[in-house]
Amino acid sequence: MQILQGKKIVLGITGGIAAYKMPELVRRLIDQGAEVRVVMTESAKAFITPLTLQAVSGNSVSDTLLDTEAERAMGHIALAKWADLLLIAPASANSIANITHGLANDLLGTIVLATNATIAIAPAMNQQMWHAEITQENIQKLKNRGMHIWGPGQGEQACGDVGFGRLLEVPELVDQVCGLYQEKKLLNQHWVITAGPTREAIDPVRYISNHSSGKMGYSIAQAALNAGAKVTLISGPVNLSTPETVELIKVTSAEQMHQEAIKQAKNADVFVACAAVADYRVAEIAEQKIKKTADNHHLQINLVKNPDIVADVAALADKPFTVGFAAETQDVEHYALDKLKRKNLDLIAANNVALSGQGFNSDNNALTVFSATSQHDISLMSKSDVAKKLVDIIAEQLDEKH
Ligand code: C5P
Repeated sequence: MQILQGKKIVLGITGGIAAYKMPELVRRLIDQGAEVRVVMTESAKAFITPLTLQAVSGNSVSDTLLDTEAERAMGHIALAKWADLLLIAPASANSIANITHGLANDLLGTIVLATNATIAIAPAMNQQMWHAEITQENIQKLKNRGMHIWGPGQGEQACGDVGFGRLLEVPELVDQVCGLYQEKKLLNQHWVITAGPTREAIDPVRYISNHSSGKMGYSIAQAALNAGAKVTLISGPVNLSTPETVELIKVTSAEQMHQEAIKQAKNADVFVACAAVADYRVAEIAEQKIKKTADNHHLQINLVKNPDIVADVAALADKPFTVGFAAETQDVEHYALDKLKRKNLDLIAANNVALSGQGFNSDNNALTVFSATSQHDISLMSKSDVAKKLVDIIAEQLDEKH
């Protein structure tokens, strides 16, 4: 059965450029079995037409509060009662302020007040508007009232700025919605996940790092959360929005990640090492910036080995179910199985980073997952879908173990 079968979603669209993505969102929600009715504010209609949303949703679009015809067809109270979920996307700074203060001067405002449905808000605005103290206060109030806040994501904005304020991508929004209704098969489990790169300081301004974006680890965290687990994410420096309700521990270096991982893994059921940890760190970090001089043509930096985080977790007396990753450019199976044994892992997820369109810094990935006795292939798909499949494989193996 589709996850959203029988679910009734009111999608409230407010005025923001990301409104142009909403027909696609409606389509994908319907693909998952939902019925969708769209409510638009006046300013939303400056970005996209009601006709488009009527066509994709298969239902007439509601956009006025004081219209006798519309009220007769499905009035604001009826819509508010009909909904299982009221999703407001994109939610502008203005609409967030209105909702915080309980304004009921348009159709969407009245529905927010009149509904018992779950309310989720996906903000989208200029990064400075997002960071404005008043917006942050409003968001905090809405969270305290039990509303879900999904995003915003980070990146390039329509106005040319770069930063937090982008509407989450459509697949991410669909994942969030599905997460509300998905079977919670990981309830009472604590998952600890490492993600992203580490940075090894050379001097106060320079470091050694790698191209890991953290997307795979963050996707696994989201998938485990959606399946009901409590999730601790130990993350190196990344430009990603933190999944709602995850416990985020930010670290920079491999040694910090090691320390946190050992601490957290002691009470964990599952440990997933998705981080691209630097194998070596600088032996002595220079206290001052290293200067370039005229006669200094070569510079030597001494490196020492970092602790192997996943191997040390797997060596704990009461070790969690431990999953490692193997990013290889050749002989993937051979090296992955060798790592599985050598590091005493329960499972290893191998990917061939030499193939284009997957792995580091990409939105897609393909994995082969090995245990000592089994092999599962996850074909090339979005990291979010790969994560769901990997979480299912881990859950199955855990069941078999118990
Ligand atoms: O040995 P290699 O780095 O290829 O192993 C990859 C796996 O080991 C990944 O799961 C990675 O997160 C983990 N790892 C670690 N600590 C290190 C190096 C790798 O946890 N210092």
